[in-house]
Amino acid sequence: MPETIDEQITIEKTKDPKEIPADDDLDFGRLFSDHMFMMEYESGKGWHDPQIIPYQPLEIDPGSSFCHYCQVTFEGMKAYRNEDDEIMLFRPDKNAERLNNSNRRMCMPELDPEFFIKAVKTLVDVDSDWVPSSEGTSLYIRPFIVATEKYLGLKSSDSYKFLIIASPVGSYYPEGLKPTEIKVETEYVRSVKGGTGAAKTGGNYGRSLLAQNQAAEEGFDGVLWLDGRERKYVEEVGAMNVFFRIDDTIVTPSLEGTILPGITRDSVIKILEDRGEEVEERKLEIEELAQAYRNGYLQEAFGTGTAAVIAPIGRIQWEDLNMEINDREVGPLTSEIYDILTGIQRGRIKDKYDWTDK
Ligand code: COI
Repeated sequence: MPETIDEQITIEKTKDPKEIPADDDLDFGRLFSDHMFMMEYESGKGWHDPQIIPYQPLEIDPGSSFCHYCQVTFEGMKAYRNEDDEIMLFRPDKNAERLNNSNRRMCMPELDPEFFIKAVKTLVDVDSDWVPSSEGTSLYIRPFIVATEKYLGLKSSDSYKFLIIASPVGSYYPEGLKPTEIKVETEYVRSVKGGTGAAKTGGNYGRSLLAQNQAAEEGFDGVLWLDGRERKYVEEVGAMNVFFRIDDTIVTPSLEGTILPGITRDSVIKILEDRGEEVEERKLEIEELAQAYRNGYLQEAFGTGTAAVIAPIGRIQWEDLNMEINDREVGPLTSEIYDILTGIQRGRIKDKYDWTDK
């Protein structure tokens, strides 16, 4: 169990506030708000000195272990402004829980989940003017922990920094909700059983870039990852979880240690089940997907993640097989799920789900 943190968060406001861009000018993750949260950890002392300070470069010792051995965990979450001008977080308790799961996997210290939420809320409150309000926009929040011990021997670090930065964002895909073209990756893998695929740690993302870049050179938007052992089962799409509508059933790969347990994934499953859809979380062979396509049963496919929310898939290329899905249009279920999810996130759909936290 992580230790409770009851230290006060000190706040130092910037003397040089930046200009906040218009909602129309926002892209994804290049511009950061005026402040950041920072807290230190040392073994024997625990987490201490929580503070909000002006956004600034970190002073990093080049011997810090995270620079070499990737002892790094992070989260992605969003704050939205609702029609009543209130700021809402979407399921922050789930981010706190997942960060601690990642920390355990990476031999890093856990964080008091209540304190995690308090730290996020305090930063969002200080930078509340940075939460945009137009449809499709939000304040993307990136909590992360890095190992800071100055030591080149390979061991778990004795010291860490926990930081939270925030970036006002527009749509992850500048073209909006537009079907993507995806290549099934048959050479490289994202994760293997026993590895770190279920943890949100930098290495999973860094190692995915070569396949992503090669796919981009071939004109694709991203890759569909297969399992690392047999190259047989579908796992994720790009940096997202993936769903398929096969005839009357919605199938998503089951979480068996190689796949990130997405909070959007979990929310989509609950929304689908509440609509009376049949959802199967199970192993899905790429051959089964191809067969469903050949038989005309593969009706829709989409990715889910915090950054992109829902990313429709219009085409999947598996070696020589070109699978065009729903005439490369956004499918009806995909667009309905997008509307429901964004409706909940922005507070238009109330009552049914207890997922927003003001
Ligand atoms: C997210 O969806 O929040 C992620 O962390 C993925 C990242 C590549 C933007």
